Amino acid sequence: MRAATIVEGRIEVEDRPDPVPGDGEVLISVRAAGINGADLAQRAGRYPPPAGATDVPGLECAGEIADGRRVMALLSGGGQAELAVAHETHLLPVSDGMGWDEAGGFVEVFATAHDALFTQAELSAGERLLVNGAAGGVGVAAVQLGLAAGATVTASARHHHDALRALGADTDVDGEYDVILELVGGENLTTNLGRLALRGRISVIGTGAGSRAEIEFGYLTRKRGRIHGSTLRSRTVEEKAQVMAALGAFMAEHAFHVPVEETFPLERTEDAYERFRAGNKFGKIVVCP
Ligand SMILES: NC(=O)c1ccc[n+]([C@@H]2O[C@H](COP(=O)([O-])OP(=O)(O)OC[C@H]3O[C@@H](n4cnc5c(N)ncnc54)[C@H](OP(=O)(O)O)[C@@H]3O)[C@@H](O)[C@H]2O)c1
Repeated sequence: MRAATIVEGRIEVEDRPDPVPGDGEVLISVRAAGINGADLAQRAGRYPPPAGATDVPGLECAGEIADGRRVMALLSGGGQAELAVAHETHLLPVSDGMGWDEAGGFVEVFATAHDALFTQAELSAGERLLVNGAAGGVGVAAVQLGLAAGATVTASARHHHDALRALGADTDVDGEYDVILELVGGENLTTNLGRLALRGRISVIGTGAGSRAEIEFGYLTRKRGRIHGSTLRSRTVEEKAQVMAALGAFMAEHAFHVPVEETFPLERTEDAYERFRAGNKFGKIVVCP
């Protein structure tokens, strides 16, 4: 098969042996695969794949499996290739109206956002959610998930305010929040504390703008607040299955849209990474074998 391969800090698309599914796994003929920040970190040598995972990058893909089903899959690697292997409990069906490009960029960001908002931060209907870094993949997922759950959603982003308002978010960030989803990090980690409502929760998922900040603990105690962090990739097969089951149940009742900023053929995966790195995109960058 053809597969994205990291060679001295660049992506080259090379011939690799076809992956072989193990117990409980399926082989996916990949139609589309999303790019994520973790892929860029892996390309730079800063985020090695977990033990036992392929070194082919790609945490999410969509395609067909042997019985003809159209699926999208959460992966610990290997999505940016013609063939990928996924655990059968890490699959979701691709709905009829969803294109391959949207499906290829769905799972990693929606699973991350769903787990952070509902399982960890316990967001509920009527609460106020602030999403920092809302125009990226996880952000547009979180905005839609929060609205679907009946929260009021405010989106903080440097660009794409009209598109975020079109999704249903407010873009005026003044106010207090029950849940803050942090996808940027850096100084936000300090200012978030001043924006917490009583019993507010801060969920830290991304720290691309910096992972150190000075924290005024007084805000946290006065607001009886909570800060927690999370990663998805390193979880066990069973833990990821729980995340996917919760997301699948939510999807059965709601329809979501994945804004795709640009798609690239697999052979141009390096260009896709560079487009991701350039920023100022709305939603996802996707490669299509
Ligand atoms: N913990 C986990 O399991 C997990 C899972 C998935 C993702 N992540 C992390 O979560 C973060 C978001 O993921 P993503 O897929 O949504 O990434 P993404 O598509 O690149 O989106 C990131 C967003 O943050 C904005 N941003 C970046 N630096 C900023 C800064 N200094 N100030 C203000 N805004 C800034 C970007 O805006 P611009 O376009 O203006 O730069 C972009 O809209 C990444 O750090 C990613 O690595 C973690």
